[in-house]
Amino acid sequence: AATANYTFTVESMRVSQLCNSTDIIAVNGQLPGPTIEVNEGDAVAVEVINGSPYNLTIHWHGILQLLTPWADGPSMVTQCPIQPNSSYTYRFNVTGQEGTLWWHAHSSFLRATVYGALIIRPRNGSAYPFPAPDQEVPIVLGEWWSRNVVDIESDAVSSGQLPRESDAFTVNGVTGELYQCANETFTVDVQPNTTVLLRVINAGLNTHLFFKVAGHAFTVVAVDACYTANYTTDTLVLAPGHTVDALMVTNASPGSYYMAVQAYDSLSPTTMAVTDETTATAIVRYNTTSTKKNATPVMPTMPKSSDSATANAFYFGLRGPPSPGAPAVPTKVDVNMTIELGLGQLPCDSTQSSCSGKSVAASMNGVSFRLPLRMSLLEAQFNRTPGVYTADFPDAAPPSGTPMVEGTKVRRLKYNSTVEIVLQNPTAFPSENHPIHLHGFNFFVLAQGLGNFTPGNVSGYNLVDPVSRNTLAVPTGGWAVIRFVANNPGMWFFHCHLDAHVPMGLGMVFAVDNGTTPDSFLPPPPADLPKC
Ligand code: C2O
Repeated sequence: AATANYTFTVESMRVSQLCNSTDIIAVNGQLPGPTIEVNEGDAVAVEVINGSPYNLTIHWHGILQLLTPWADGPSMVTQCPIQPNSSYTYRFNVTGQEGTLWWHAHSSFLRATVYGALIIRPRNGSAYPFPAPDQEVPIVLGEWWSRNVVDIESDAVSSGQLPRESDAFTVNGVTGELYQCANETFTVDVQPNTTVLLRVINAGLNTHLFFKVAGHAFTVVAVDACYTANYTTDTLVLAPGHTVDALMVTNASPGSYYMAVQAYDSLSPTTMAVTDETTATAIVRYNTTSTKKNATPVMPTMPKSSDSATANAFYFGLRGPPSPGAPAVPTKVDVNMTIELGLGQLPCDSTQSSCSGKSVAASMNGVSFRLPLRMSLLEAQFNRTPGVYTADFPDAAPPSGTPMVEGTKVRRLKYNSTVEIVLQNPTAFPSENHPIHLHGFNFFVLAQGLGNFTPGNVSGYNLVDPVSRNTLAVPTGGWAVIRFVANNPGMWFFHCHLDAHVPMGLGMVFAVDNGTTPDSFLPPPPADLPKC
């Protein structure tokens, strides 16, 4: 196997978008940043040089990081941030996964512009489990913010107000021509009657997206770099963090077709929805003499932004590859947890005369998660440093009405234990679809539904061919059940991938170790690991 070496220089860059020039933080002067392309089995080394004025880390979203926890990247979970004018080299292996993933900043809101695709092809001599496509196109969907995103985050944290709405959606860094002052529209030239593999990524901060191409259907073959059973649809749905590999056959009449991207606003009641309804576009253009170069492309009919039925149909419809061949679901469960996702108020602390407007927070099982400030959780786990976290994250929600608490609470898992988690969204209003992302593992999605999960109702579990993912969109007013094997020692963040919800506390951390001093499973930190 080869080692793929990359250098990421992170710097300010001036970009014109929406009739304005804005300074953004970008990698190697590109938006999206460079695409990492490897074969399964390769090693990767990315030297990240932080030439930006901000503390920064990079996360390789979906990479399992088996025995390389120091390369995972979430700030203060597995490392202290890379300070300005410093560097850190992330070293990891890409083993046992194929498809499309991505990388992004994992500190403050910097992932708004610090992101790119990560493509894993089968190792040399192996083939895709579907007919080889004629063409592959990464489609990185993003959100564009006209204001400085670090300022947006600090305002959000101090005001308790969610920065819900970006100023535009983008396809491969540009808005497309339906927005004002668009100077560029991403265009894919295709040949008739060929198969195009679209590697679609939702790199946006806070918005679920619908994706369509006029006149064309898709066959989904993988999500989150996990192969799926073929799933045919004309609408892809991606929560922030999701990736979808979809085959598209170019069998429409030669011409130009819009690829269109629009918000799915999952908030219920729908009257609370405040999403930008503008459509970002790119163009699929048949490269034939009969294609008129200046003809207006055909526009697809997009779902309404409040269309949870279409979103849930897509999410609930995905299956793993047919067995035999499907990865086996572990049947003996060692740890059963229920995690309730909550949005609410932190109790006022007694020193404040009034805390109105500052107390909106989010929680899992009543705990609003706080990152540690002076040492990363992984360093504290490795060195057995007391006082950085507590290992008392609860396995179930407290009785309703219990005040929310703040804390750096982790759930310790014995190495190799099998964990089942019921994720429950509030069924009372308001509720929204939270894409919950697990670092360090893929999990099986055994069941999903609307309303409250019935404890013990295991008859609906799919133990035969469940889809595997790293990010699960928990339906509005509904629930989902996931299962994974804790076969990777380290500290693994489990959090909402709506970036606004992370500083609000919608997360927790799994600490996988064997409880010895020093922990024999954890590799020592690399010499260049950043210091706080
Ligand atoms: Cu893609 Cu913890 O994030």
